[in-house]
Amino acid sequence: MADVIQLLPDNIANQIAAGEVIQRPASVVKELLENSIDAGSSQIKLILKDSGKTLIQVIDDGVGMSDTDARLCFERHATSKIKSAEDLFKIDTKGFRGEALASIAAIAHVELLTRQPHADVGCRIVVAGSKVEKTEAVQTHQGTSFSVKNLFYNIPARRKFLKSDPVELKHIIEEFYRVAIIHCDITFTLHHNGNDLYYLPKSGLKQRIVSIFGKTYNEKLLQVNEQTELISIEGFIAKAEAAKKSLGDQYLFVNNRFVKNNYLNHAVKLL
Ligand SMILES: Nc1ncnc2c1ncn2[C@@H]1O[C@H](COP(=O)(O)OP(=O)(O)O)[C@@H](O)[C@H]1O
Ligand SMILES: [Mg+2]
Repeated sequence: MADVIQLLPDNIANQIAAGEVIQRPASVVKELLENSIDAGSSQIKLILKDSGKTLIQVIDDGVGMSDTDARLCFERHATSKIKSAEDLFKIDTKGFRGEALASIAAIAHVELLTRQPHADVGCRIVVAGSKVEKTEAVQTHQGTSFSVKNLFYNIPARRKFLKSDPVELKHIIEEFYRVAIIHCDITFTLHHNGNDLYYLPKSGLKQRIVSIFGKTYNEKLLQVNEQTELISIEGFIAKAEAAKKSLGDQYLFVNNRFVKNNYLNHAVKLL
């Protein structure tokens, strides 16, 4: 019988992989925010149109990328964060798989603007459906801006099953909280359809919680601090009178990564 196996073209392989990584606009927001944090940014701006269905833009003032890296970052398994299998045991970045940008670029129109601090000019790259459509030298601010437009434009079934704008925005804001709460040393802003939804200036953790959840929390927060040989636990819990029946407002982090764990969530609730 004739041979029947073929290697899938990159754009199809990327589109399939994207199904795992990118479920909705909030997934793109998470990946872009995490990349900006890994890039050592001190200011990160998130701009949305139509709950991310039309535009998700993340602008940072991090280390930026060289021209070659800017081109490479859209390839699958392209990462600056690990080099060998041993590195997997000492990861100190949010990402390391090198999959997010390749996935996003397979299912959206993406524009990247980036400039390293010492470089006179930066680089602009336009990619759609995994194909590079334009690469040019440009004047741009130090750091990186990714604009992701028309998510799922080439997968109509996925686009059709996105939820209403308020629901998708809620998912995005949840991802924004999960990153912004713990990285209180970074200034975050969030703009949606021309409105400023959040301005979170660099601050301490308590002030960050108050900036997000409202001034009334200022009086209600109790500091938690426990150091043992194995683990150190720190953070804030609300006084009993502010307790809610739901677990919705619990945010637990391990090594600055948001985690969800029923056992821990219930343990905190019962305290
Ligand atoms: N905002 C950014 N600033 C600087 N470099 C970036 C930024 N976003 C992505 N990169 C570069 O692109 C690479 C690929 O990103 P990504 O696909 O998210 O994979 P990962 O984060 O797992 O490495 C990163 O390893 C990094 O080198
Ligand atoms: Mg990443």
